[in-house]
Amino acid sequence: MTDIVLQTRGISKSFGALKASNDISIDLRAGEIHAIIGPNGAGKSTLIAQICGSLQPDAGQVELMGRDVTALSTDQRARAGLGRTFQISALAMEDSVLQNALLGALGASGRPWRFWAAVLGDRALRSRAEEALARVGLGAFGSKRCADLSHGQRRQLEVAVALTLRPCAFVMDEPMAGLGAAGSKEMTTFLDGLRQEAPILLVEHDMDAVFALADRISVLVYGEVIATGTVDQIRADARVREAYLGETV
Ligand SMILES: Nc1ncnc2c1ncn2[C@@H]1O[C@H](COP(=O)(O)OP(=O)(O)O)[C@@H](O)[C@H]1O
Ligand SMILES: [Mg+2]
Repeated sequence: MTDIVLQTRGISKSFGALKASNDISIDLRAGEIHAIIGPNGAGKSTLIAQICGSLQPDAGQVELMGRDVTALSTDQRARAGLGRTFQISALAMEDSVLQNALLGALGASGRPWRFWAAVLGDRALRSRAEEALARVGLGAFGSKRCADLSHGQRRQLEVAVALTLRPCAFVMDEPMAGLGAAGSKEMTTFLDGLRQEAPILLVEHDMDAVFALADRISVLVYGEVIATGTVDQIRADARVREAYLGETV
């Protein structure tokens, strides 16, 4: 038995002559935050898209809890336990916080949409949604309009929506983007606790956050993983310094 929750095996993807992913094998283990870093254009988003299912690899597999999910759609992967938060918010801004969480819970149940009255009155859905809101610290904000939340609270709501699916792994593309220093700090504390819920594969530019949070870091350059290791190992890695981090780190 291993504690690997999510992994890619030899993922490759080309756009014309450009190898955006070149034989990438990474894994995410129970309880950890594994950060993926690399310069712009390194292939981070392309990798995440293949893990989440919006892009098909030319070669290689994606496995979730030991199951090959490469042929599954994004929705099927979400139902299989892959919790994703998006770089661009997918929240319904005019709806309330609770309604957004309920939409997630409804999606998780696999049942079709009927009317708000029916959804709001469904005890099982409602408790699933309320539980997720409480978990991210938005328990008291259920009736607030999503548009009236701060940036950071919206990110937390996105995580709550993902939590309604009871994910076994999270994949996050730049959750700190646009949050500012104080917001980033808050989000860092939040993600720090969230890893107990489910491990997190984290693409993030904010190096303070990455170094504070990551149990392991993989460095992606020109579509290839050039190093994987702990924060200390990555800081000390000569190839990483040369390719990406510079001498000051
Ligand atoms: N759909 C696409 N068609 C053609 N080229 C693409 C496409 N998506 C990404 N690329 C290219 O692949 C490379 C990796 O992009 P991306 O994964 O977005 O990098 P990152 O997220 O690390 O900044 C870049 O050179 C980018 O221009
Ligand atoms: Mg990107």
